[in-house]
Amino acid sequence: MSNAAKTVNLIYRPDDFLPGLADTMLKRKIPSLAGAAERAGFALRFLPVHELIPASADRPTLWHQGEDLLSTRQCFQVDDFSWDPQASHFLKAVYRTIQESDSLLLNRSMDGPEYLATDKLAIAQHAAKFGIPAPVSLAVPYGRHARAVLPLVEERLGQGPYILKPREMGMGFAVQKIDTFRQLSSAIDMVAQAGIGYLLQPYLPHSADVRVYLMEGEIIAALHRSAGKGAYMTNICQGGISRVLTGWGEVDELCRTIAGSLRASCLSVDWLLTDSGPVLGEWSTGFGSFPDHEPKVGEAFFSWVRSKLA
Ligand SMILES: Nc1ncnc2c1ncn2[C@@H]1O[C@H](COP(=O)(O)OP(=O)(O)O)[C@@H](O)[C@H]1O
Ligand SMILES: [Mg+2]
Repeated sequence: MSNAAKTVNLIYRPDDFLPGLADTMLKRKIPSLAGAAERAGFALRFLPVHELIPASADRPTLWHQGEDLLSTRQCFQVDDFSWDPQASHFLKAVYRTIQESDSLLLNRSMDGPEYLATDKLAIAQHAAKFGIPAPVSLAVPYGRHARAVLPLVEERLGQGPYILKPREMGMGFAVQKIDTFRQLSSAIDMVAQAGIGYLLQPYLPHSADVRVYLMEGEIIAALHRSAGKGAYMTNICQGGISRVLTGWGEVDELCRTIAGSLRASCLSVDWLLTDSGPVLGEWSTGFGSFPDHEPKVGEAFFSWVRSKLA
């Protein structure tokens, strides 16, 4: 492995956050992520996406301050959405440029269309095909057509409560619990102006989430994540609390079915633990969060990277 190949480049979108917040979040991430990387002999480099220019010459090129990052084989993970539609499209240009090169795109860690890694509607549809319990999900039409979804919501999801959330986003961004049908129509008027797609689901009461990490179809670790007091989201950046789980009995087979159906080599799957059993929340490719208190995930991740580079 060359020295260049030992750098993991993380391409992120700073503009979705308050000025300075992306840096704060990265700093929070760095100790566990950089620690795991360092133990595995990798260095991390964080690149804000606006510093890059993807291009095509005799091969895919990715310019950063006069240097083509694809001139040697390297590893990348690229944020794959933004609430700014143009930023989102630009992230896709970067993502696809790396995918077309001989470098490794770590969050392209499954077969099939790239939207199956991020689109919560497609994820629910794919899961349902394999008999995996997933929430009923309705896509909200765009702009002034958004309200057209309301009669179907009443028929399929009843009077609430509901979850209204972006179809492709993360970290609990803009995920809203809405208690009544009346509140929903106002919320729909707001997302009609949002410029990105939204999804409606029934609010499924659940005591906690479980996040299961799989590498090459094998379960590496699982985390139990519960919402903070009075909260409804379990995302750690939204105040959720996590602890390591030792058993994952109930979701074991379901996780393997998902990883097998996607031919996913690096996947984490989130389950809502409801009274009637686990229901799929979402899944993610590559890595989003390395739990500080579960070093196995980082170790497994970087040995997977190493094997991909070999
Ligand atoms: N249908 C739902 N019912 C109840 N809680 C939900 C539902 N969908 C999402 N949540 C809660 O909100 C959190 C964030 O939603 P999620 O779909 O995972 O979006 P993100 O990609 O932003 O993490 C979940 O971890 C879960 O705690
Ligand atoms: Mg989530």
